[in-house]
Amino acid sequence: MGERIRILLPEDEVDRRISEIGRQISEAYNGKHVHLICVLKGGVCFTCELAKRITVPVSFDFMAVSSYGSGTESTGQVKIKKDLDEPLEGKDVLLVEDIIDSGNTLSSLLELLWMRKPASLKICTLLDKPSRRVRDVKVDYVGFSIPDEFVVGYGLDYDQKYRNLPYIGVVEFDD
Ligand code: IMP
Ligand code: MG
Repeated sequence: MGERIRILLPEDEVDRRISEIGRQISEAYNGKHVHLICVLKGGVCFTCELAKRITVPVSFDFMAVSSYGSGTESTGQVKIKKDLDEPLEGKDVLLVEDIIDSGNTLSSLLELLWMRKPASLKICTLLDKPSRRVRDVKVDYVGFSIPDEFVVGYGLDYDQKYRNLPYIGVVEFDD
């Protein structure tokens, strides 16, 4: 079965929005050091592009979690596949996500991260699908709210493909 990608958010629009968020974060964290946590693999492109636009000191750490059960709906539990290298205690942590869908992954991840006693913990996501939310989570920075469609690009994949696309697209299938 063939697939095509329909562009939803072109590269220049995504880049412009990331610059805006980078400015907001730089102002909000003025005088502080931001500890970015990139959620692998989907968050990797957004984390890099965002970090390049933050003007206060930044450090990075990486984490990989599995959110999905057997189907395409995420389960309530997250399993840590790769844990952070460094402790969070006393740090101003900004969790960087690719997309928030049901909110299940994020809410269990937050519980886990708060136990490590960061000074603050905020959330930044490139994309948000608010219509799909089942868990109430407060997201501090949102790139774009999008409709309930399966998107790829900028780190997001379909079957591990399309993560490298410099724009956000919707996967369409040929009949
Ligand atoms: P949640 O637990 O339902 O919020 O799931 C969030 C995770 O599901 C994201 O971090 C993605 O890995 C994946 N996901 C949700 N929607 C999409 C999509 O449209 N495209 C690609 N991955 C998605
Ligand atoms: Mg993710």
